[in-house]
Amino acid sequence: MIGREWKKRTHHCGSLRIEDVGRDVVLNGWVQKRRDHGGVIFIDLRDVSGLVQVVFNPEISAAAHEVAGELRGEYVISCRGTVGARPADSVNPRLATGEVEVRVEEADVISASLTPPFEIQEGSDVDEALRFRYRFLDMRRRDQLEPLILRSRVAVTVRNFLDSRGFLEIETPMLTKSTPEGARDFVVPSRLQPGKFYALPQSPQLFKQLLMIAGIDRYYQIARCFRDEDMRADRQLEFTQIDLEMSFIEPEDLIAIMDAMFVDLFRRVMSVELSDPFPQISWQEAMEAYGTDRPDPRWGMEIDDFSSIFSATDFKLFRSILEEKGRVRGFKVDGLIAPARRELDSLVSEAQRLGAGGLVWMVREGDSLRSPVAKFLSQGETDALIEKAAMVEGEVFLLAAGPGDLNPVLAGLRQYCIKNFAPQPAEAWALLWVIDFPLFDWDENEKRYKSNHHPFTSPSRRTLELLDDDPLQVTSDSYDMVLNGVEIGGGSIRIHDPELQDRIFKILGLGEQEVEEKFGFLIEAFRYGAPPHGGIAYGLDRLAMLMAGKDSIRDVIAFPKTQSGLDLMTAAPDIISQAQLKELRIRST
Ligand code: AMO
Repeated sequence: MIGREWKKRTHHCGSLRIEDVGRDVVLNGWVQKRRDHGGVIFIDLRDVSGLVQVVFNPEISAAAHEVAGELRGEYVISCRGTVGARPADSVNPRLATGEVEVRVEEADVISASLTPPFEIQEGSDVDEALRFRYRFLDMRRRDQLEPLILRSRVAVTVRNFLDSRGFLEIETPMLTKSTPEGARDFVVPSRLQPGKFYALPQSPQLFKQLLMIAGIDRYYQIARCFRDEDMRADRQLEFTQIDLEMSFIEPEDLIAIMDAMFVDLFRRVMSVELSDPFPQISWQEAMEAYGTDRPDPRWGMEIDDFSSIFSATDFKLFRSILEEKGRVRGFKVDGLIAPARRELDSLVSEAQRLGAGGLVWMVREGDSLRSPVAKFLSQGETDALIEKAAMVEGEVFLLAAGPGDLNPVLAGLRQYCIKNFAPQPAEAWALLWVIDFPLFDWDENEKRYKSNHHPFTSPSRRTLELLDDDPLQVTSDSYDMVLNGVEIGGGSIRIHDPELQDRIFKILGLGEQEVEEKFGFLIEAFRYGAPPHGGIAYGLDRLAMLMAGKDSIRDVIAFPKTQSGLDLMTAAPDIISQAQLKELRIRST
């Protein structure tokens, strides 16, 4: 019988300890497991704080024992009883409440439950589609709940920190204007303005700049953002940014305050002491040494340029590549000594998978190198390679050569080696800044310049004079923060001069009319006294994912979408009624 009366809890299930023995407590929670030991019924009762064993003994209460007889997994109950010490042989050291149990005197069923479609048990392997369809059951599992608790602590800690540094939390609109550049927008048809559309914000970028012009000085927001782009493990269609902006600053001011924020965050949430300032590396250096703008320096394996060793080589392949102004770059593999042929072959196939024409491996054997190309190398080249790469006996060294961009291959191979061969790093956390990004990239398909960060990013003063003649050489006052090889945040100092902003729009190929239509309000605002300003946005989901030790941001999102953008629980996106379409003046196809 489902009771209507129920007692409110005095304690959380997971909070009871040996010191509570003798206490009269009321618990509310879900039945995790029921064991009937011939007369005495044991239940693991669960709530947000954890589990505790509750015991229904007919000798203590026949009525409560009868209620326990009806209980099944996931029933919600209320029970009152006395905390007792478990007999020594039934203490469970794996459970925080493992030394105690609650001996029940009164019990009520609050709600019954259908048999769940999967076992609500920490660590059990459940198909992801089923988990997402029943995410409300999935989140009852401790290992699913834990990352959400951590995420909440991250958000609160960051809020408190920014508040203590004088940042104002200000909300910006969700229904806004579609702007060119960036990712594809999600659009929302307007009923009141037929034929017109709002766009959901890809980020609060323009609004936060306008807040600076408004004199707000320091703004932050834990902001929802929407981008219609292909999803990956670290990308969702909707995600959350820790977004902030500051006035009257230079890059170093922002970097210093963010360093302090991360020291505070890791101290409070992870009990980890990071030491700031975090290292800074220029984009150019990062691309050279790691082949990527998201370096993870916890493993050495830095990439070096070996072209000069082969300047007069007899090895035809390298010679012709160098004659074409190509390069020979490579790195020494950590953790792979005297490898098996199969391991070397796996490296070659990985390089091919990454798009390389080929890969040269070399293993040091005394003063010579075991390698498919060893016979083409002079002793001088061999000695120089061993020395420059500091190879010890049995170590493996990889070289890629080409006139094209070697970075994707080298960075991918380095990643492969980290995953398959490298020992555990000494440091668990590597936080660093990548600075001095190029202002523009060249888009070969569209044959035009694109902003590397976004069009509001300020060119750095020392390269400004190259803006008209050699835009690709211009660097910007931008910075990304990278945690363990994942870009967790990016920002820049902004342009606050309307003339310079106009020049940038022109280089990007935006026509005057388009600029006026899309950004007229910003350019106009710049004409009313704009302070120098800059900011950054962090991906809260990505940050929480890394801090929780997860591989996908879906694990730190309460209701995530699948790879194909579906919400399996609510079945969104969905068709809408003819009446709704008509009201919005949209014709269905
Ligand atoms: P940016 O586009 O680099 O900068 O985004 C900032 C951070 O947001 C996170 N992020 C994402 N997380 C999950 N899913 C996505 N689809 C996704 N896209 C981005 C990343 C990224 O580092 N307005 C600028 C910031 C600024 O200049 O202040 C901006 O949005 O962690």
